[in-house]
Amino acid sequence: MGISAIIGGQWGDEGKGKIVDFLAEDADLIARYSGGNNAGHTIENEFGKFALHLVPCGVGWEKTKNIIGNGTVVDPKILIEEITLVEESNLPGEIFVSNKAHIVMPYHITIDTLEEKKRAQQSMHEMGIEAIGTTGRGIGPAYSDKITRIGFRMEDLLTPEKMIEKLKIILQDKNEIIKKIYNAEPLDYSFIVNEIMSWAKRLNKYIVNTDKIMMKSLKSKEKILLEGAQGVLLDIDHGTYPYVTSSNSTIGGAISGLGLNPKKINKVSGVFKSYCTRVGAGPFPTEIHGMHAEEIRQQAREFGTTTGRPRRIGWFDAVAAKYSVSINGMDSMILTKLDILDNWDTIQICTSYKINGKSTSEFPSNELDFKECEPIYEVFDGWKEKTSDIDKYSELNSIAKKYIDSLEKIVGIPIDIISTGPHREATILR
Ligand code: GDP
Ligand code: IMO
Ligand code: MG
Repeated sequence: MGISAIIGGQWGDEGKGKIVDFLAEDADLIARYSGGNNAGHTIENEFGKFALHLVPCGVGWEKTKNIIGNGTVVDPKILIEEITLVEESNLPGEIFVSNKAHIVMPYHITIDTLEEKKRAQQSMHEMGIEAIGTTGRGIGPAYSDKITRIGFRMEDLLTPEKMIEKLKIILQDKNEIIKKIYNAEPLDYSFIVNEIMSWAKRLNKYIVNTDKIMMKSLKSKEKILLEGAQGVLLDIDHGTYPYVTSSNSTIGGAISGLGLNPKKINKVSGVFKSYCTRVGAGPFPTEIHGMHAEEIRQQAREFGTTTGRPRRIGWFDAVAAKYSVSINGMDSMILTKLDILDNWDTIQICTSYKINGKSTSEFPSNELDFKECEPIYEVFDGWKEKTSDIDKYSELNSIAKKYIDSLEKIVGIPIDIISTGPHREATILR
């Protein structure tokens, strides 16, 4: 009964997909509220291993309704690929897409790539503008068109002839930008028209008013899970701007991105890796480099689920974690990848920063402060014992238990789920 939110507490890729797949056993409805196919959520269960980009991770359970909400941006081509994969793999959940979700058009992808290339130029660097390392999936430009009100919504695919007419005008403007500002090849109108016609045909039956489904579900006192994408520190408002994504990955995004009654949210849980990773550019106070980072990257297969890029690696950052907890009102932490720490001699947790010689436990909001930010660590003993695939708390060794207790004390909220491997079964419910 009620609504539980599962939100990435760090810079994304915390294992949200795995946790949602685990928790969805008891859920009736699972909803994505922000982002698009910049997200990559991995699940491993009796049906196999899947990297889902748009379809919520509850799809592995029968009788679940899986909603892609109005706050997301949808690349129809990717959605079709994913729905086809879900069908062919016999994943039993139902899929619905909000009529109000915005569409990522082919020109958004082109412009995303061109903007990123421009930001990466030396002349831009000299002006203080840096590349962000976007996923190149057209996410920023699609949200940008939503804000300037020239975007297409999924409901437009229900009347494709009208959509094609409007496209004529919009594409002219986009092609002007592509040619004149970026000196690149314009996009072909008839190619996009054909795409639209095929998207409309295939997706027609999935596009609905998802508000009604949500409301009915709430009225029937069903259990609803909100599946966050990205992480708190990539939030457009609260993350490490400008090195962030283009939507609100925090709990506020769930309310507007699904049309939810905020009073019905019973629990907010943050998913945290037992260390940190980040893909793309931007501040990362606890980042580690060299051999040690490479060892962890290889051992934990820390490569982007969407782009395959190597993820940057760092120690657990409790200053950032406390910030995530406070701006989302998190009730509990879900700790993933405990098994990755199994062979470490010692484990570090950053408990404060030194900024310009001054100690602080506040997460900076200013990009410049991060440049001067030195992490201060507490060091814990490693357990040097296998925890992978353990599914009962009582079976964990005492040193690992002590580490979990310490993390709870430092961050200030309980850890109620611990993940010890990528498979759904490798999960401890405390
Ligand atoms: P998400 O974006 O938050 O859903 O996370 P990703 O799927 O992008 O990345 C998390 C990666 O860690 C995936 O490859 C998961 O299969 C894997 N994973 C999740 N939980 C665990 C865990 O407890 N242990 C290990 N070893 N791998 C995990
Ligand atoms: P999940 O849901 C990790 C990062 C990109 C880039 C920045 C902006 O799998 O945790 P964008 O394409 O969104 O404009 O890129 O945000 N990013 C993610 N990093 N996991 C994600 O999603 C991400 N989604 C976006 O790497 O730095
Ligand atoms: Mg991911």
